[in-house]
Amino acid sequence: MLLPLSRNFAVLLLGLLALSSHRQGTGAVQIQSPNLSQSPTSKQRADAVKKAYVDSYNDYKKYALGYDALAPVSKKGVNYLGGWGATVVDSLTTSYVMGLQDLFQEAVDFTKRIDFTKTEQSTISLFETNIRYLGGMLSAFELGGKKETKLVDQAKIVGDHLLKGWVGVNDLPFNTLHWNNDGQPDTNSKPGIAEAGTLLIEFDRLSKYTGDPKYLQYAEKAMKAIINSKPVFPGLYAQNYDASTNQASNDYVTWGGGSDSFFEYLVKYAYLVGSDSSQPYLPTWVDSVKSSIRNLITSPQGTDRKDLKYLTDYSASNGGNLPRFSHLGCFVGGNWLLGSKMLGGYQPFQTYGLDLVESCYNTYNSSTTGIGPETFVFIGEKGGTNGVNVKDYNFYGKNGFDYEVEQYILRPEVLESVFYAYRITGDQRWQDLSWKAFQSILKYCKAPAALSSIDSVKSSKPNLLDDSESFLYAETFKYIYLTFADPSVVNLDRYVLNTEGHPFLIDQPGKAKYQVDLGDTEPVPSPPPPTPTSQNGEEEKPGSVPVPKFSSLPDLGKLVQKPDGSYLLGGLLDLLDRASIEWMGNLERGS
Ligand SMILES: *[C@@H]1O[C@H](CO)[C@@H](O)[C@H](O)[C@H]1NC(C)=O
Ligand SMILES: *[C@@H]1O[C@H](CO)[C@@H](O)[C@H](O)[C@H]1NC(C)=O
Repeated sequence: MLLPLSRNFAVLLLGLLALSSHRQGTGAVQIQSPNLSQSPTSKQRADAVKKAYVDSYNDYKKYALGYDALAPVSKKGVNYLGGWGATVVDSLTTSYVMGLQDLFQEAVDFTKRIDFTKTEQSTISLFETNIRYLGGMLSAFELGGKKETKLVDQAKIVGDHLLKGWVGVNDLPFNTLHWNNDGQPDTNSKPGIAEAGTLLIEFDRLSKYTGDPKYLQYAEKAMKAIINSKPVFPGLYAQNYDASTNQASNDYVTWGGGSDSFFEYLVKYAYLVGSDSSQPYLPTWVDSVKSSIRNLITSPQGTDRKDLKYLTDYSASNGGNLPRFSHLGCFVGGNWLLGSKMLGGYQPFQTYGLDLVESCYNTYNSSTTGIGPETFVFIGEKGGTNGVNVKDYNFYGKNGFDYEVEQYILRPEVLESVFYAYRITGDQRWQDLSWKAFQSILKYCKAPAALSSIDSVKSSKPNLLDDSESFLYAETFKYIYLTFADPSVVNLDRYVLNTEGHPFLIDQPGKAKYQVDLGDTEPVPSPPPPTPTSQNGEEEKPGSVPVPKFSSLPDLGKLVQKPDGSYLLGGLLDLLDRASIEWMGNLERGS
C-alpha cells in the first residue's frame, strides 16, 4: 500500500512542479523568438513602410474611394469584388496595426455604411468575400476593442449571403454566388479545396460574435468533408471536389493557388482555438507536411543551386511530380515554421520551413528587379520534368529556377514567410532581405498613383500593368511593416493571421503543449545533405529534358490591352466573370 501511495505522491509533486513552471511561462508553447527587440534601424524602416502605405492609400482615396481597387496607371476605380469598397475594408487592420487611428476610424465609419445586401455584379466569389470582407471586418472589430458592434452586424449580412453557397444537404459549398434576391449559386463548377477549406477562422469568429453557431457548423462540415475524403497522399488532397459525392474530381496536388489556404487553415485554425488531437485539423496538417517532405520536396537538378528546396506539384495522371512552384505557394515556409513551433520546435518541419523561405527569397534575389515571379520552374530529381519546361539554361544553371509566369502582381507570400522567419528565429538577416525587396518594389512598381503590378520581374524596364489588388494593402504592406515593427505588435504568441493578413486573438495563449502523434507513421526523413555539383557540368544537358506534355494551367500570363491603352492581366479579366472558369487556382489569393 505504501509504495503506490508514495508513487502517487511523487506524480502529484511532479504535476505541481510542471504546473508552476507553466505559470512562469517556461512550459508554454512559444512562437516568437524570445530575444526580439526593435532596433533604431528597424524603427526607421517601419516608419518608411508606414509612409509608403499612407501615400498609396491616399492615392486610392483620391482616385477610387468606394471602388474595390485602384487602377494605378489610369487613376480610376475598378470593381470586381462586389463593388463594396474592398480596398477600404481590406486596409482596416493594416491602418490599425500601424497605429494610424484616424485612417482606421474613417475606414470603420465607411464600412459601417456599406450596403452589403445587394451588388451590381452578376457573380460574387464566396472565397474572396470571406477572406477580405468578413475577415477584415471581424478582425477590425476585435482590434478596435469590440466596441463597433455594427461591424459584426455587417459581417452577419455578408455571412448569411455566403451560406447560400451550400445547396441542399451538400457539405461543400459552391464558390460562385448570385447575391441579389437570394439567388442560387452556380452549381456547374467543382468546389476547390481552397474555397471550401478557407472559412473556418472567419466563420468561427462570426459564430462567436453573433452567438449563432451555424456559421462555424457550415465551415466545419466543409472542412471535414475534405479531410474524410480519399487523399492522394496522407493529408494531401486533390484540388477539386464533386459537391454531391464529397470526393475529388481531379488528382492535382499543390500547395499553390486553388489549394494553398486549405492546408494553411488546418494549422492556423488549430492555433486559433488551441485544439490538438481532439479535432482533426492539426493531425491532418502534420500528415500533409510529412507527405510533402516524402513526396513533393525536391532540390533542383542540373544547376549550381542544388542547395535550394522546392515543393513540386503532383498529378499521377500527368506523370507524377511537376517541377513548378509559385509565389502563392511560397507562404508554406512561414506556415511550416508556425506549425513547427506549435509542436515544440519540431526540427524537421522547422529546417524545411527555413529552406523553403530561403529558396523562395532566392527568386527575388536572382531577378533583375529584385522581385520574384508569379510562377517558376526547375528540373526535378532524376531529371524529371513531366513537360514543365526550363528554357533559359544559362540562368537556370546559376540560379536554380527559370521563369514561367514573369509578372509580379504585388503579392505578399514571399515576404510574409520572411516575416515569420524573422519573428521565429530572431535572425536580423531576414529583416535585411525584406528591406531589400521592399526597395525593389518601390522602385519598379511605382505608378502614377500608388503602386502597380508589373509585367516582368526579369526586365530592367518592366511595364506597369494597370492593376493593384486590395491585398497590397491588407498583406504586402502589413507583412513588411511587421517585420520591422516592435515585436509586440501582432505578437504571434497572441495572434493568428487569416489568409488575407487579418489578425485574430487566439483563444489559448500560453497553452502548454499541442499533442499530436508525430511518430504514427515512418519518421520524417532529415534533410539530405546537399548533392555535390558535378565538376564538368555533364549531367542534365539541356537536350535531356522531355517535350512538354502538361499544359493545363490557366493563362494568367496573357496581357490584354484596354481601350485606354493600358494593360491588364488576362487572368484578372477572367476574375470579373468567374462563373466561366473551371480551374481558377492561380487567380485566387488563396494564401
Ligand atoms: C543574393 O545574390 C548575391 C549575388 O548575386 C549573393 O552574393 C547573395 O548571397 C544572395 N543573397 C541571398 C539571400 O540569397
Ligand atoms: C536571437 O536568437 C537567435 C537564436 O535563437 C539568433 O540566431 C539571433 O541572432 C538572435 N538575435 C539577436 C538580435 O540576438
